[in-house]
Amino acid sequence: MIPGPTDLHPRVIDAMRRQMIDHRSEEFRELMRSLEERCKKVFETRNDVYVLTASGTGGVECAASNLVELGDKVLVPIAGVFGERMADAIEAYGGEVVRIELPIGEAPTPQIIKKSLEENPDVSIVGFPYNDTSTGTIARDLPGIIRACKEHGVLTVVDAVSILGGAKLPVDELGIDVCITGSQKCLAAPPGLALISFSEKALEKAEKKKKRPHYFDVVKYRKFLEERQETPFTPAVSLFFALDEALKIIVDEVGLDRWIERHQAGAAALYAAASELGVELFAKEDFRSPTVLAFKPPKNITDAQIRQVMLEKFRVRIAGGLAQFRGKMFRIANIGNVAGDRILKTIDALAQTLQQLTGNSRREEALEAAKRELDKRWPG
Ligand SMILES: Cc1ncc(COP(=O)(O)O)c(C=O)c1O
Repeated sequence: MIPGPTDLHPRVIDAMRRQMIDHRSEEFRELMRSLEERCKKVFETRNDVYVLTASGTGGVECAASNLVELGDKVLVPIAGVFGERMADAIEAYGGEVVRIELPIGEAPTPQIIKKSLEENPDVSIVGFPYNDTSTGTIARDLPGIIRACKEHGVLTVVDAVSILGGAKLPVDELGIDVCITGSQKCLAAPPGLALISFSEKALEKAEKKKKRPHYFDVVKYRKFLEERQETPFTPAVSLFFALDEALKIIVDEVGLDRWIERHQAGAAALYAAASELGVELFAKEDFRSPTVLAFKPPKNITDAQIRQVMLEKFRVRIAGGLAQFRGKMFRIANIGNVAGDRILKTIDALAQTLQQLTGNSRREEALEAAKRELDKRWPG
């Protein structure tokens, strides 16, 4: 139950055992067409989705290196480690970042974005994580944020690495210019691929950029995809097989809406149980992520103790805090192949761990509350 990589469906594991194919062959082009069709469905976009042989960070780097001209002013609201990383990526390509440091537990809102854009009328791009995995926060009113950005005529870059597939994210309907995700999170594929969509407007800016990136050049990716259904460089073929299989499960078998609803139901169960157990969340109520729950350890015990008992006694692996949050939180992820029994097992393990470490004995209540939510919301 860590925020990626997540457990794989056996068919996705099997897909990686296939013999290699020539990435300049018709067999590969067929694979690309299948991948592309389903990538567009999960992004809910008519634009191309480029599959990069890189982790999610490569996707963020692709956005920054293709869009940011030296001296471009870019607004980045920061709700945790991944907002900071987005800001760092933009600075690495010469962007002048206007950082909005949000209070811990909060995420960007349309009001904050509007106010910051009014104060900084020369901003040309706004970039941020929709879901900051390090604090378990989500920018809940994403449509309002994108609308505010459009009113100011700025491009939007959304890091959806830990949320695409776990919450509704209709890229075209919202009008997101660049949207990024990673293979190893809600899409339940192995790590190693970044998926990124570019709107026409974003592609136009990329085409005009004076110094273009080499490996992540989106203009090359577009040309190769549209003209030949290939990638410009050797792709990680095994991972492409695996992602294709994972997307077939999501899109053709489970259905994207139902896949998302599973994440929402799992989150509701986890939050209901957490409330019974009295564990304190980092995220304020309006910003609670459906995919990552970040908790403060109860007084006098450490996150390491909680993680250790959960792993050793109950075989449930959860995460600690990242960077400045190390030692200050434990995180439970609800990502990918989420299932009711896994969620209940995790809640049971957490309840018994807390009972052992703190004497809190609300295991039954927590499980009941979680079951009620699952019964009400689980889409099957
Ligand atoms: C929101 C967010 N952005 C970016 C990344 C970076 O992805 P990767 O570790 O795959 O490079 C992560 C990874 O957890 C993430 O959660």
